[in-house]
Amino acid sequence: METSSVSKLLVLFFTVLFVSSKLIHCTITYDKKSILIDGQRRILISGSIHYPRSTPDMWESLVQKAKDGGLDVIDTYVFWNGHEPSPGNYDFEGRYDLVRFIKTVQKMGLYANLRIGPYVCAEWNFGGFPVWLKYVPGISFRTDNEPFKRAMQGFTQKIVQMMKNEKLFASQGGPIILSQIENEYGPESKALGTAGHAYINWAAKMAVGLDTGVPWVMCKEDDAPDPVINTCNGFYCDAFSPNKPYKPTLWTEAWSGWFTEFGGAIHRRPVQDLAFAVARFIQKGGAYINYYMYHGGTNFGRTAGGPFITTSYDYDAPIDEYGLIRQPKYGHLKELHGAIKLCEHALVSSDPTVTSLGTYHQAHVFSSNGSCAAFLSNYHTKSAARVIFNDRHYNLPPWSISILPDCRNVVFNTAKVRVKISHTQLFPTSSMMFSWGTYDEDISSLGLRSRLTAQGLLEQMNVTRDTSDYLWYTTSVDISPSESFLRGGQKPTLNVDSAGHALHVYINGQFSGSAFGTRKDRGFTFTGPVNLHAGANHIALASISVGLPNVGRHYETWKTGIVGVFLNGLDQGKKDLAWQKWSYQVGLKGEAMNLVSPDGVSSVEWMQGSLAAQSQQSMTWYKAYFDAPEGNEPLALDMRSMGKGQVWINGQSLGRYWMAYANGDCGTCRYLGTFRPTKCQSGCGHPTQRWYHVPRSWLKPKQNLLVLFEELGGDAKRISLVKRSVSYKSHRHHRKSGGN
Ligand code: GAL
Repeated sequence: METSSVSKLLVLFFTVLFVSSKLIHCTITYDKKSILIDGQRRILISGSIHYPRSTPDMWESLVQKAKDGGLDVIDTYVFWNGHEPSPGNYDFEGRYDLVRFIKTVQKMGLYANLRIGPYVCAEWNFGGFPVWLKYVPGISFRTDNEPFKRAMQGFTQKIVQMMKNEKLFASQGGPIILSQIENEYGPESKALGTAGHAYINWAAKMAVGLDTGVPWVMCKEDDAPDPVINTCNGFYCDAFSPNKPYKPTLWTEAWSGWFTEFGGAIHRRPVQDLAFAVARFIQKGGAYINYYMYHGGTNFGRTAGGPFITTSYDYDAPIDEYGLIRQPKYGHLKELHGAIKLCEHALVSSDPTVTSLGTYHQAHVFSSNGSCAAFLSNYHTKSAARVIFNDRHYNLPPWSISILPDCRNVVFNTAKVRVKISHTQLFPTSSMMFSWGTYDEDISSLGLRSRLTAQGLLEQMNVTRDTSDYLWYTTSVDISPSESFLRGGQKPTLNVDSAGHALHVYINGQFSGSAFGTRKDRGFTFTGPVNLHAGANHIALASISVGLPNVGRHYETWKTGIVGVFLNGLDQGKKDLAWQKWSYQVGLKGEAMNLVSPDGVSSVEWMQGSLAAQSQQSMTWYKAYFDAPEGNEPLALDMRSMGKGQVWINGQSLGRYWMAYANGDCGTCRYLGTFRPTKCQSGCGHPTQRWYHVPRSWLKPKQNLLVLFEELGGDAKRISLVKRSVSYKSHRHHRKSGGN
């Protein structure tokens, strides 16, 4: 070979080596200004998309939309209880295919922030912890406790190793540039004192020791030990500074809206306010912002936490539950991201010079090496202002920030929305009318041959281990024929004290009432008159969990289920039933027979015909078959005519449904700035959640099995399957912020 060809080859070889080495070893570091990718300071825009809250066939399009919306990073929690349903049995398939999700992010050219937790909060069942973890001997969650730390380390290590094996950390050429350990531990740490401190130091050391080559963050933890970066979560984060001058200012949860609970209001956060909050954070020197959520998605199955978190986790996010773009939220933020990116060089190269332009008005100017970017802000919530900056006049709407990437021209103002508004449209499908079969859940024989009996009331989770929402408590009460109420006196009343979350009472096979807790007050008391006869009476209490708590001090010790039962108004007075013999049945008969699945459905005789659908008998199973509607629009079941229960398609659970009505107050008014809703803003006087997402990928072309379990009774004839789409209408300019 000639020398010249050899040297050409060598040049080629080294070029390839150089290019690929850049791909293979990307260094992620940080300084006081920002995260650095390969030595370059960056302003990064990120959005949360939780992989199990959508289906794998949706991931690519969600990430693509995020990219088109101006995002650089996708953030997700890791959901331990989804991945390890029983000790040592792992699930990384389907919606839990974490590697595939991260690879999708990589394929679309975005970075990832892997928030391993493993405590995640997230309105997710048990905050992400597997329920079996509670039963590890001697365990105490999220504190300096050896069994807990051992388990937490084991899972964290497993996830890190899995990512390493697939070369998914940026240090290996992958997309993961950040990881999180724990979640919002600050308040816990303060309450626990020394043990909290020891635990968080251990957690930081353990995580850093895993040697991922990318920085770790801890959100809402002022004491995050070096080199872990403490970050902010909130509706606003402009008052936040990291705990060391050499750490960057990062915002891991900019709440784009809020979650919903059954019976609660639907929260909307105006995009003007969100954009204002983000611009205000950036002008202060913030270098990373993550929208929580960018796409909220769906709490399929029994993954919703709370209790009482709805199946929908829409969150009023820029991409809605169904994967459709929500406008003007998405578009206005996209413009904001574009404006911020035009300022990136100036933002990372200098600290802002802040000057006052009036009582409520400021200029933040970043200038270095010829680049200059300015943010002009008006903090007054009601009055617009005309300010002078660099000898020019600028009009600033109330509660707004203008962005000037060249210190002269305004390219964006947070309060001026130029994007059209999206409106959801619902189209009927040919599967509008289902032909229903029904099957009654057997209540009268409950407890007769129960294998589990006890003298007294058992705690629900200890019995079910959360394998089902339902636990039946049954007992028998002997009534003497001499009782005066049997001769026309006042009926006795039954009192049931429950630690949560919902209850249906059956006396001698007859439904006699229900009672429910709330997310804040899980416990409640049922009181109601009961029909008793002389002799043995059968009392059956269905205690129902509606998602396990995901937040609160040592929530693993909180009780669920029935804690006291009394009969009042007998001749002898009050009769305490708590200490007599009770029989227990975990789950429904229909669940045990697997009626929800295509295999189990044929094991029983279903009542067919038009009468079936009208069955007002509570606790009924319904089944119907339908063909997949044409097209590719997202699908939803309209459950308005039903009460409360769970619904399955081809054996997979869509989630819990409940037509609990949104009440008149705002529930969780958490916006601290200009936007303070005091009344129910939207969906008021209607069920909090009427529509339930049916993922297209769960359907086959023909004969899909739809099964529901209804606890309260309803009119199944009026259930329908609809296609969802959006249309766009022009936005009327709002001079004031606050309207959306
Ligand atoms: C945060 C928490 C998130 C989520 C959010 C509310 O405090 O870190 O996991 O629960 O609140 O949606």
